Amino acid sequence: MRPVERVALRARFGLIQAARVGWYASQSYSGTRLAARVGQDLPPVPKPVIEAEAGVPDRAVLLSYVRDLLLRDLENIENGLYPYPRDEPGGLAGLVKRRRLYLADLPNIIRRRATRSHQEIEREASGRPRYYMQNFHFQTDGWMSEESAALYETQVETLFLGAAAAMRRQALVPIADLVRARDQRHMRHLDVASGSGAFLRDVRRAFPRLNIIASDLSEPYVAMARGAIGSRHGSGAIVAAAENLPFADGAFDLVTNIYLFHELPPKVRPLVAAEIARAVAPGGRVVIVDSLQTGDTPELDGLLELFPQLFHEPYYRSYLTTDIAGLFTDAGLSLESMWPAFVSKVFVFRKPQGG
Ligand SMILES: C[S@@+](CC[C@H](N)C(=O)[O-])C[C@H]1O[C@@H](n2cnc3c(N)ncnc32)[C@H](O)[C@@H]1O
Repeated sequence: MRPVERVALRARFGLIQAARVGWYASQSYSGTRLAARVGQDLPPVPKPVIEAEAGVPDRAVLLSYVRDLLLRDLENIENGLYPYPRDEPGGLAGLVKRRRLYLADLPNIIRRRATRSHQEIEREASGRPRYYMQNFHFQTDGWMSEESAALYETQVETLFLGAAAAMRRQALVPIADLVRARDQRHMRHLDVASGSGAFLRDVRRAFPRLNIIASDLSEPYVAMARGAIGSRHGSGAIVAAAENLPFADGAFDLVTNIYLFHELPPKVRPLVAAEIARAVAPGGRVVIVDSLQTGDTPELDGLLELFPQLFHEPYYRSYLTTDIAGLFTDAGLSLESMWPAFVSKVFVFRKPQGG
């Protein structure tokens, strides 16, 4: 890249990412104000109990972590590991529309939080595990509707001050490394618990010829993930439980999984780790991104304590002290690297040859 191109790229990246973070931070602020107004007519929410010495970091501290993450993101782009981030779907009009939908639904979430209602979904006859059929994060319809799938990414970006996409992009770094040495047309990638597919949209842009399979337990989310991947031959999206993947042993060169383990009951986590380890081929990679855990970044420990007190996250506390790397090494993989990315953490595992 010529120096003048580098300067232009940095200026564009800086401006757009600052605007993006500002947009979601202001959305989060509007949400807080709305919560205070709506909450006046609801039972009071218990005051959060925080034991971490540093308390809950203020917004300036959080923004400094977001800045560090974005600088790393920029460095990865400049090093050619993945392309410049895509534009927001639908441009500014799309953002405005999603902000309206987000704020229109927020009073429902605030009511559920105040009344501790997290079981508003019909569980019988769904064919899904009981632990899954809850209003995670107090979200409307849990995972079970098109409306929930359409709102999900906006809710996540608002929670993470616009940094969710950049945190997920960290997973592209080891994928770039793997793809560099291989012909991507002959590589199979499985993404487990894909959600609405925001990460896969970035994977598709970075590695246009990769064969990508998305899987998730929610039909509406799978439908969105299918749209994110596109219609390339050898790619697709299916409804499947992470603890019972309908694929042959070693069927994939790469398996990714983002933000699932913190939502699984402790007994299910080793089952999912074993399934992922089974599905990846010897010599292949597994890339996991999930929440930071207690002690990873002590300044943020208070935030990790706050999260499950504000949102319905029934298994998050146990996640905070679970040895995630141990689950995968017990399943036969070896840990290659692990690093924090703001409030997330990336794990890269390898399946030994002959494993
Ligand atoms: C927090 S979202 C993460 C989605 C996406 N990977 C992302 O980066 O945002 C958790 C996702 O896991 C899915 N999920 C939860 N339990 C699952 C299970 N046992 N098997 C498959 N998918 C599951 C949910 O439907 C939801 O889409």
